[in-house]
Amino acid sequence: MGISLIVLAAGQGTRMNSDLPKVLHPLGGVALVGHALQAGRALEPGRVVVVAGHGAAEVRRAVLALDDMAIVVEQSEQLGTAHAVAQARAALDGVGGDAVVLYGDTPFISADTLERMRAARAQHDVVVLGFEANDPGRYGRLIMDGDRLERIVEFKDADATERAVTLCNSGVVCADAGLLFDLVAGVGCDNAAGEYYLTDIVALATARGLRAGVVLCPESETLGINTRAELAAAEAAFQTRARAEALDTGVTLLAPDTVHFALDTVIGRDALVEPNVVFGPGVTVESGATIRAFSHLEGCHVSRGAVVGPFARLRPGAELAEDVRVGNFVEVKNTVMDEGAKANHLAYLGDAHVGQGANVGAGTITCNYDGVSKHRTEIGAGAFIGSDTMLVAPVRVGAGAVTGSGSVISDDVPDGALALGRARQVTKPGLGARLMQRLRAASDIAKGKH
Ligand code: UD1
Ligand code: MG
Repeated sequence: MGISLIVLAAGQGTRMNSDLPKVLHPLGGVALVGHALQAGRALEPGRVVVVAGHGAAEVRRAVLALDDMAIVVEQSEQLGTAHAVAQARAALDGVGGDAVVLYGDTPFISADTLERMRAARAQHDVVVLGFEANDPGRYGRLIMDGDRLERIVEFKDADATERAVTLCNSGVVCADAGLLFDLVAGVGCDNAAGEYYLTDIVALATARGLRAGVVLCPESETLGINTRAELAAAEAAFQTRARAEALDTGVTLLAPDTVHFALDTVIGRDALVEPNVVFGPGVTVESGATIRAFSHLEGCHVSRGAVVGPFARLRPGAELAEDVRVGNFVEVKNTVMDEGAKANHLAYLGDAHVGQGANVGAGTITCNYDGVSKHRTEIGAGAFIGSDTMLVAPVRVGAGAVTGSGSVISDDVPDGALALGRARQVTKPGLGARLMQRLRAASDIAKGKH
């Protein structure tokens, strides 16, 4: 049977003090809700439903960008977690199989934990993810009867004995989807918060003679984000883990603590990453590539043997083939550089194709934007672009062609041609020295020295 995901993401996140819906705050370069979606993906869900509320339109856009098959439903009033789950019912009508409820603001649930929950469904009708809390605070408490979960009591409703329990509810639940919606429909709101608690489904299931059980995970996985400080702490935790994973997979990090990763960063074995490198979303670096210090990469691919930086910027659509060189203060956007192509210093390559082995000189700019539209630049294999060439797109420089330094190239250059597009130099013997003499004399008069 297939499995469905229900991600609760309607909360306002008032304590973030932000105009951005809480679940859209980035962690590891990806919206918080994207982390829940990613963890859930390990279960290969047939259907993914996100329950949005505050900032629903923005959340919908972001969720669909992360997963265009997801269904975003709206919970217009936040009446509680059970009410939120009920909003997903229509979207899962007739789907069958199990449903897993995740929170959009809880980014660290691991794929392994979700797998263990799925496996535990063989013994239990309702599986709840629990953890032993260091400080149980305001979490819901799991009230056990042997290895059976009897009920969950919310902190607000708990008596002193129940509050002394340290086994807490993470919020993640797995059950047959049909059963889940049936149970949720029976939840009332006669409690301290006046909310429809999802946690009440456990007592309702037990009352029906169904079995509820608990799967345990480390507390670190259940960390939820409510404040900027928690988001910052979560970012630090995320980076620590990402660095450790990179080292484990055989990446050399010269100063791990200074390298920042995104949720989806992929770096091959024996790649070398120097200090102070930032990987934004969507980066793959092949085995044996080198990313030198202070480089910033997002949405790009770096192939084996390529060297990037120091101080390079690769923006979305930068595709570097094997042995490409992108040096200091070079920005590359939406540009494919074929094998062995080089842009070693101070250049902007945008909306371009640089052919195999071509050399782009210092100060070269693809003038890709006319103020309204973007245009393409084609640089042929083995071309030599002289320093400070302005390539006014759309324009093509042929294979093996050469542009003179300081040229403004607005017409296509045929294969093998030399193109010069600059004013001819004029040299006046002795005039430099005479000019300086005159200027100094004028300055002395102005200062009253004569
Ligand atoms: C919930 C659990 C509690 C558990 C804790 C773990 C309930 C009643 N309580 O409490 O047992 O220990 O999580 O963090 O479930 N949401 C909606 N719509 C709503 C209400 C909430 O989408 O109407 C979403 C929130 O955006 C959030 C999640 O559900 O992502 C949890 O809601 P929250 O209000 O944080 O529940 P807690 O009080 O923390
Ligand atoms: Mg909470």
